[in-house]
Amino acid sequence: MKLPRVAANFALSLDGKIAARAKGPTSFTSAADRRRMLELRAGADAILVGRGTIEADDIPMRLPSARLRAKRIRAGKTAEPLRVIFSNSGRLRKNLRVFRDGGPPVVVFTTRSMPASTKRWLDGVADVRIEPRGNRVDPRYALEALARDYGVRTALCEGGADLFRALVQAGLVRTLHVTFAPVIIGGAGAPTLLGPAPSSLLKRSIPLRLEGFFPRGDEAFATYRVAAGS
Ligand SMILES: NC(=O)c1ccc[n+]([C@@H]2O[C@H](COP(=O)([O-])OP(=O)(O)OC[C@H]3O[C@@H](n4cnc5c(N)ncnc54)[C@H](OP(=O)(O)O)[C@@H]3O)[C@@H](O)[C@H]2O)c1
Repeated sequence: MKLPRVAANFALSLDGKIAARAKGPTSFTSAADRRRMLELRAGADAILVGRGTIEADDIPMRLPSARLRAKRIRAGKTAEPLRVIFSNSGRLRKNLRVFRDGGPPVVVFTTRSMPASTKRWLDGVADVRIEPRGNRVDPRYALEALARDYGVRTALCEGGADLFRALVQAGLVRTLHVTFAPVIIGGAGAPTLLGPAPSSLLKRSIPLRLEGFFPRGDEAFATYRVAAGS
């Protein structure tokens, strides 16, 4: 099974933080960064997020731009990418916008830990995929299912740190887009790309190759390719 090509996109403070506090919302980037995020989103068959990001930012995971939706349709795609949420616990709130606002299909990868009451209402608004092999979703299994059952060839991870770390540790991320934002946040509890220290330490570092770097206003947009075999 050919796995989807996975890219990730994050905004980073200049001291490497993705949010001011663990589980807090991200609010330090510009309208230009948001436009870039939507361009990247428009290029993917599926958007991937962890429960923490959905809870912190309550993002509907939509493509609000008519221009970008039309471009996708001209390319023979659905108007908007598939929305994919990861949650081992399955403890998702019914009132999150992603479940309320209509829009493209939602797929939830979870485990048997999902409360039965959650599964009942969620079955009405999403495809619930239960991990068959234990109490943690294996990201490779999820990507295989996305390729096989939903025709996903490209996926964009929009965070957060836990999901990104799981994908990186499984060697599944090919491209990393970052926006360097002109802000310094500080604080040991503020998560980096891989979460708060020390749980974020990788067994070995991941080499990256710079593919693009575009300053715009006070921000800079960079694209890195993950070295083969990492
Ligand atoms: N700066 C940026 O660009 C950016 C982007 C995105 C998010 N953020 C910020 O990052 C923070 C949220 O990050 P986070 O550390 O909470 O990470 P997260 O990955 O968004 O959420 C963590 C939760 O997602 C679920 N999860 C993650 N990986 C999983 C996997 N492989 N399989 C199954 N479930 C998985 C688990 O849910 P359960 O607990 O239910 O098991 C886990 O506790 C927020 O502050 C958000 O604003 C920043």
